[in-house]
Amino acid sequence: MTITVDPTAPEFRYGAIGLFSRLLREQPVTPLADGGVLLCRHADVAWALTSHDVRRPTEWSVGRKPEGPFRDFGRNNMISMNPPDHTRFRHAIMPAFSRKRVEALTDFVDRTCEALIGRMRERDSGDFIADFAMPLPVTVICHMLGIPTEEENLLREGSGAMLAGLEIVATPEEFARATAGATALFDYLSAVVRAREQSPGDDLLSLLVRNEREHKLTRDEVVWAIITLLIAGHETTTHLLGNGLLALMRHPEAMRRLREEPGLTENAVEEFLRYDPPLYVLFRQAARDVRIDDTAIAEGTHLMLSIAAANRDPLHFESPDVLDLGRANARDNLSFAAGRYLCAGHALARLEGRIAFQKLMSRLADIRPARDPAPREGVMFKGYHDMPVSYRWAG
Ligand code: HEM
Repeated sequence: MTITVDPTAPEFRYGAIGLFSRLLREQPVTPLADGGVLLCRHADVAWALTSHDVRRPTEWSVGRKPEGPFRDFGRNNMISMNPPDHTRFRHAIMPAFSRKRVEALTDFVDRTCEALIGRMRERDSGDFIADFAMPLPVTVICHMLGIPTEEENLLREGSGAMLAGLEIVATPEEFARATAGATALFDYLSAVVRAREQSPGDDLLSLLVRNEREHKLTRDEVVWAIITLLIAGHETTTHLLGNGLLALMRHPEAMRRLREEPGLTENAVEEFLRYDPPLYVLFRQAARDVRIDDTAIAEGTHLMLSIAAANRDPLHFESPDVLDLGRANARDNLSFAAGRYLCAGHALARLEGRIAFQKLMSRLADIRPARDPAPREGVMFKGYHDMPVSYRWAG
């Protein structure tokens, strides 16, 4: 009997890893209640991410949002775009994410981690999300953009509200908060852009303003591009750090190994991304008629790609449910997508992850959960609102 799943059902609310594992075994190409198709196998998800027969469902993403600034964001954010607009945005921002530019941020990330852990030292317990996992990426992205961190609250709250509105199940209240967040961020950042025009620097925001002058982006597009970077670069990285630390706390032998073998950290970050990714699913649309196994998929059909399932596919990863920090092919995870839509900030997120876990392991001992963390509700994003932990200062 064919199983049909409904992503708006409660079982999808907190990252449906159990359901995805079952579908991988029993029915990796699954009809969705709304007529779409869910793909779970690594090979199928990798194909859908890279094939020109598949595109992003721009109209669907934009049309779901209420009229107003949040819908304007939907129209102008590169994460919903396809070429040629997508190519124009990508060309505008990618110079800021070159390997050289990202490596040049190493010292800043290092100092920021030290400062945050230094503050954690004053106590022997706290909320890992509020104390470390949230402020690190906000501070780094603000530094990259050249935005003062005094407005961190506005940036954090505005982008958090907008992120919640991007979920496939959003309530009218969440849409209202997302609209208020979009308005506040747009107004504030428009003023920052105007000021930066007068005194440009070497930051990402000045680069975007220069691109506007070269007529590659309109003024509004520059502001929406900045908001996109804030949203894309912020909570995702928070969840990499939170989900990664939680995985370590639940596997003390892995935490011990990481302390003893710090050279493993880069691979450990890949394994955290594979094991419990910040984005569980992505949405796409067939650009022409295609077929997967016996399933004919007509042009226009919505595709839900389960990154979480692909990362646990036993055809690709041996013992996929085991957290193995030394896994040879951990980097095959699809958590940053792939192909022409590959996450623009993947090298930056990987750098932040590597430095953060190196510092956490060397400075803090006996890191343990103080109580269960509060999971954030959502189909797409997987993470925690808080993560109470206790620890000891190790030096
Ligand atoms: C662990 C952290 C991160 C994860 C898991 C992640 C994941 C992703 C994924 C899956 C996509 C593709 C979305 C789609 O095609 O539907 C994406 C796109 C994007 N990400 Fe990330 N991201 C992370 C961090 C960052 C950071 C730090 C930045 C920048 C500061 C960033 C900027 C972007 C941008 C601009 C795009 C759009 C790329 C495009 O459309 O070509 N991300 N990210």
